[in-house]
Amino acid sequence: MRSLASAAFATACLLCLQGCAGWQSALDPKGPAANELAWLIWFFTGLCTLVWVLLMVTLIAPLLMRQRGGTEPLALDIGAERRKLRMVGAATGLTAMILIGLTVLSFFANRTLAAIGSDAALTIRVTGHQWWWEVRYEDATPSRILTTANEIHIPAGEPVRLLLTSTDVIHSFWVPSLAGKLDLIPGHLNVLDIKADRPGVYRGQCAEFCGAQHANMGTFIIAEQRTKFDAWWNDQLKAAAAPASEEAKAGAELFIKRPCVMCHTIRGTPAGGRVAPDLTHIASRQTLAAGTLTMSRGNLAAWIADPQGAKPGVHMPMVELDGDQLNQIVAYLEGLK
Ligand code: CUA
Repeated sequence: MRSLASAAFATACLLCLQGCAGWQSALDPKGPAANELAWLIWFFTGLCTLVWVLLMVTLIAPLLMRQRGGTEPLALDIGAERRKLRMVGAATGLTAMILIGLTVLSFFANRTLAAIGSDAALTIRVTGHQWWWEVRYEDATPSRILTTANEIHIPAGEPVRLLLTSTDVIHSFWVPSLAGKLDLIPGHLNVLDIKADRPGVYRGQCAEFCGAQHANMGTFIIAEQRTKFDAWWNDQLKAAAAPASEEAKAGAELFIKRPCVMCHTIRGTPAGGRVAPDLTHIASRQTLAAGTLTMSRGNLAAWIADPQGAKPGVHMPMVELDGDQLNQIVAYLEGLK
């Protein structure tokens, strides 16, 4: 029975520890900012645990000693009183020193975080919307400015400056493996510098309750080699691919005739709506609806046919389409690589 209980306990511990690793964990840092924060949290946890253990020993030891027939509690012993006073004084001094030490450590960690992006060559403006992320790559050359959504490609090993803002309510940008969280506030720009040491995909999540679909406001940072990143940017700058089949062609026409065009942009077509994600290269993304569904023909169809079914409360309206029309629009979007 006892071994069964220990096995269950060990399994539970292992399962809990599983949460410490992976593509969305502050305890599995993959960049200098997250490293700094992870180091700080482990140091704080270790030191505070030590203080707690010492405190417990100091509390419990006298109780045990008294049970073994200690001195008369009301008898006055001047020497013992002085010793106790010195001990309380020393403990107070030590507490103050620990607090000051931790404050100084936090201060220097903040300085390190602030220095990460001081020479960032790439600036990306991330705007929070209920419930998706608008991602705009800034560039001195206006024709190279690029707007996309929900997935943020960055060059690995290079610092990137994110300018965070919001159009509606307060959101919070948090990619735990790369950096701490920072709010996106309407009418205000917050600066967050990130750097991924190695190529990889890191998941992020809105970390400030922002309405019904707060939980389905995910994002992905895709860090890749510089050459791959440049190629991606150049591809994304291109206008949307022309429909490749008759079905897709019908879908493209339908897209312009139906309310889709009121909200979405597809560059190279008359669709220029700005209130919803840019769809120029939607099929090149890994997920739909800010990480809610994986990108596939079936999910695209399900999403368009019934957005409320996948993401209740979402602002995307249901557009009335028959089966053929739905297939046509999906065929068109699926070609927008
Ligand atoms: Cu956006 Cu929570």
